[in-house]
Amino acid sequence: MERAVFRVWRGEGTTGAFRDYTTEIVPGMVVLDAIHRIQADQANDLACRWNCKAGKCGSCSAEINGKPRLMCMTRLNELPLDEPVTVEPMKAFPPIRDLVTDVSWNFEVKKKIKPFKPRTPDAPDGTWRMAQADVDRVQEFRKCIECFLCQDVCHVLREHAMHDRFIGPRFLTYAAALEMHPLDSEDRIAELRNLQGIGYCNITRCCTKVCPEHITITENAIIPLKERVVDRFYDPVSRLLRMFRS
Ligand code: SF4
Ligand code: SF4
Ligand code: FES
Repeated sequence: MERAVFRVWRGEGTTGAFRDYTTEIVPGMVVLDAIHRIQADQANDLACRWNCKAGKCGSCSAEINGKPRLMCMTRLNELPLDEPVTVEPMKAFPPIRDLVTDVSWNFEVKKKIKPFKPRTPDAPDGTWRMAQADVDRVQEFRKCIECFLCQDVCHVLREHAMHDRFIGPRFLTYAAALEMHPLDSEDRIAELRNLQGIGYCNITRCCTKVCPEHITITENAIIPLKERVVDRFYDPVSRLLRMFRS
């Protein structure tokens, strides 16, 4: 039977070190299988978060060979096994233990985004009319599994730790899903610019590249929101019209 070495981060809070574990592997295994085997045979106290093992719960996010990925969707046959496979926690969030990070900041951010506010119905029976194209446009954003890999890879959070000024690609996508919803009548543009830091995104596309749901975060969510911010705050004609209205 083949064997491979996994270099796994072991730690409490911010202190810790990598430890090597050699374990047996079989065809079809993913990184999460190897972590489970190590847990079962060699390190019963190794902490990792997971639920579905099917790429749908967003719990098993980690950094594998330095890249943000889902452990349950990373096949061993995609990785070079002639050297140790490094598995470590996401860097953009506070470490709790081993592979587990505290992602609760994300849920606090989500609560601050203005919720869906439907416009008044289009017909006396309380129903609305929507163009199919408008429905289709936001459907992509609803695939998000909240794995926060996009948040982890984004340099604004990862390197600059601007968690107090920037909501990150996941929540720009969430805001886009609400803003572009054909029934929504809420206005989130001023917050996106003034409080949620959309200007810090410099369209590097790293978030789009790591999304396991293949959501085109940058082009389909962030750029259209940036365009709305520019229209609102920097377009001289719009500004003039707003001054007259007010
Ligand atoms: S495109 Fe913007 S949000 Fe996405 S990783 Fe780059 S800076 Fe962050
Ligand atoms: S947008 Fe993609 S990468 Fe970001 S949290 Fe959702 S599924 Fe994960
Ligand atoms: S265990 Fe659910 S996404 Fe990996």
